[in-house]
Amino acid sequence: MQRRAQRLTGLGTTIFAEMSQLALRTGAVNLGQGFPDTDGPSEVLEQAVRALRTGRNQYAPGPGVPELRQAVADHQRRHYGLDVDPDREVLVTTGATEAIAAALLGLLDPGDEVVVLEPYYDSYVAGIQMAGGVRRPVTLRAPDFRLDTDELRSAVSPRTRLLLINSPHNPTGTVLDERELTAIAEVAVEHDLIVVTDEVYEHLTFDDRVHRPLATFPGMTERTLTVSSAGKTFSVTGWKVGWLCGPPDLVASVMTAKQFLTFTSGAPLQPAVAYALGLPQSVLDEARDELEGKRDLLCDGLKRIGFGVHVPQGTYFATTDVRPLGYDDGVEFCRDLPTRAGVVAIPHQVFYDDVAAGKPLVRWAFCKRDDVLIDALGRLERALA
Ligand SMILES: Cc1ncc(COP(=O)(O)O)c(C=O)c1O
Repeated sequence: MQRRAQRLTGLGTTIFAEMSQLALRTGAVNLGQGFPDTDGPSEVLEQAVRALRTGRNQYAPGPGVPELRQAVADHQRRHYGLDVDPDREVLVTTGATEAIAAALLGLLDPGDEVVVLEPYYDSYVAGIQMAGGVRRPVTLRAPDFRLDTDELRSAVSPRTRLLLINSPHNPTGTVLDERELTAIAEVAVEHDLIVVTDEVYEHLTFDDRVHRPLATFPGMTERTLTVSSAGKTFSVTGWKVGWLCGPPDLVASVMTAKQFLTFTSGAPLQPAVAYALGLPQSVLDEARDELEGKRDLLCDGLKRIGFGVHVPQGTYFATTDVRPLGYDDGVEFCRDLPTRAGVVAIPHQVFYDDVAAGKPLVRWAFCKRDDVLIDALGRLERALA
C-alpha cells in the first residue's frame, strides 16, 4: 500500500534536493539553488539579535507584528503609491511560499482552474494540487520569454478562478512590461478573476528597468493579492519572513488558512524585517547594482564558453540553451555537469507541463560571491570550452 495521499501524486523529491546532493557528493560549485552566499545588511541582523535579547520570543499576533504590517504598508505607498491598511490588508507569512500556499488553500475549491505562467516556481504546482485546483499553464517561450497575451486569453475558461503571476519571473528573468501587465489586468477584470502575484524579486531588476505591481493597474486593487518576502530583497532567504497585501476579504480568507498551517510566523525576525523595509533607497540600489554586476560576470563568461545565453531583466537567475555544447536535453546536461565540470545547475524542463519547451534550457544562479562565480566559470571553461 502506498502511504501517501493522492494529492501528492507527482510531487516527489524536488530537483533542488537531487542537484544539491550531487553537489555535496562531487564537491561541485552549486549554482543550482537561489540563495546568496553572503549575509544581509549587518544592521538588519543586529535588529534580529536585539529582538531575540529583548523578549520578542513568544507567538507574534496571527496577522504579524504591528510594526512589520505598518512597514509593509509604508513600503507599498512609498514605492508604488498603493494605499494599504496595515490592520486589514496585510498578512505576514512564513516566507512567500506560505503566502502562496495559504492563498491557494484559502481561495480555491476542488476543480477550480488556475492560470499560471510556466516555467513555474515549483511550489505553485504543489500548492494548486494540494488545494484541489487544476493548473492551466501559459508558456513563456525561448528565446525571449515574453507573455503571449492571446495564449493567456485562451487559457481562461468558465472554471478559471485565479491567475497566478510571477514578475520578475523565476527562472526566465522576464520582467513583465506595461503591455503584458495591462493584458493580464484586462483578462482578470473581464472574467472577474482573483490574481495572486508573486513579486519576491521586486527590487532585483536590472538595466534601469522598473517593476510595476499588478495591483496598480485599473480594476486590480480589489482583486489582487500581492506577495513578497524579505529573503531576496535583503539576502536573508533563511529567515522565511514574507507577506501579502490585498483587499480585506481576500486577506481574511488567506488568514483563515494560514492560522491552521503555522498560526503565526517567526516573532523576533519580524521587527528586523520592519527595520529593513525602512532602510534608505540607497541600500536597495547598492544590492541591485552588485547583483547586476554578478549577472554580467556570469552571462559574459557563459557566452565565452559557447552557451546560448538569455540575459535576465531581473531575479537571481540566467538561462542558457545547452544545444551549442552538443546536448539537446538539459536534464542530461545537468546530471553530467557535476562530475564533468564540478558545477551544478538546474534544468528548466522540470518547471514546465510543456516539457519540450524547456528541454534544452538550464538555469544558473548568480547570487554568489564573485570568486565563486569565477571559480565556476573556470571549471566550465576547462571542461567544456
Ligand atoms: C518566484 C519565487 N517565489 C517564492 C520564492 C520563495 O520565497 P520564500 O523563501 O520567501 O518562501 C522563491 C524562492 O526561490 C521564488 O523564486
